Amino acid sequence: MATIGIFDSGAGGLSVLKEIRKVLPSGHFIYFADNAHCPYGEKSPAFIRERARVITQRLLDRGAQAVVVACNTATGAAIADLRSRFDIPFIGMEPAVKPAALGTRSGVIGVLATAGTLKASKYLKTKGEYQDDVRIEEHVGEGFVQLVERGELDGPEVERTVRASLQPLLDAGADTIVLGCTHYPFLLPVIERIAGPDVRIIDPAPAVARQLLKVLTERGLCHPDRTECHLELLSSGDPSVLHTLAATLA
Ligand code: DGL
Repeated sequence: MATIGIFDSGAGGLSVLKEIRKVLPSGHFIYFADNAHCPYGEKSPAFIRERARVITQRLLDRGAQAVVVACNTATGAAIADLRSRFDIPFIGMEPAVKPAALGTRSGVIGVLATAGTLKASKYLKTKGEYQDDVRIEEHVGEGFVQLVERGELDGPEVERTVRASLQPLLDAGADTIVLGCTHYPFLLPVIERIAGPDVRIIDPAPAVARQLLKVLTERGLCHPDRTECHLELLSSGDPSVLHTLAATLA
């Protein structure tokens, strides 16, 4: 059974774990939420790189054979550094600009992400490849991460907070919204309600899960005949919301 480490600034990466479990029949999953340092969105890349190294070492010490950086912000800031330091495969997140750009009918796509992701060179490079063909409107999901970390996923305050960041993208004509932060899928019902049925919402997590499966298969770490699944939840701060949200995954 492969041992897979997964980390995020908090509980957001559970939305990626959910997709991983759909494609991986067996595995020992060790999830680390760095919630004592959440949110990462406004932190410096150097700080995030340091946290990513410490967390990766911890996951390796517990036997991780591959690590999923289930955080767009940490992927942008730290994945190149991690790959240069540790000799295991790393699978990272990337805002799904490509499928959005290929599928838009209005020619306008909206990207919701953290400030860190929108400034990261990885994202800027992807954006550069498509911005001649489509208009790319961006907005930080202000307050989204904090809501999810409190376990508040619906209700009037959630609706107000989501609308404040989403409406400008809709007003700009976006018919496709890219979720560029792994916390945001927890707010999907509210996002969909505000965006309406004609707007497509894209979460890159299913593609990331397929990529993990490919990497594990290439390395002989995938055992389709087995079905045991074990989840270990670790955190640097209060674990209560993490456990509550993890319980909703199955
Ligand atoms: N879930 C993270 C991401 O995908 C981090 C959010 C944050 O801590 O600001 O970017």
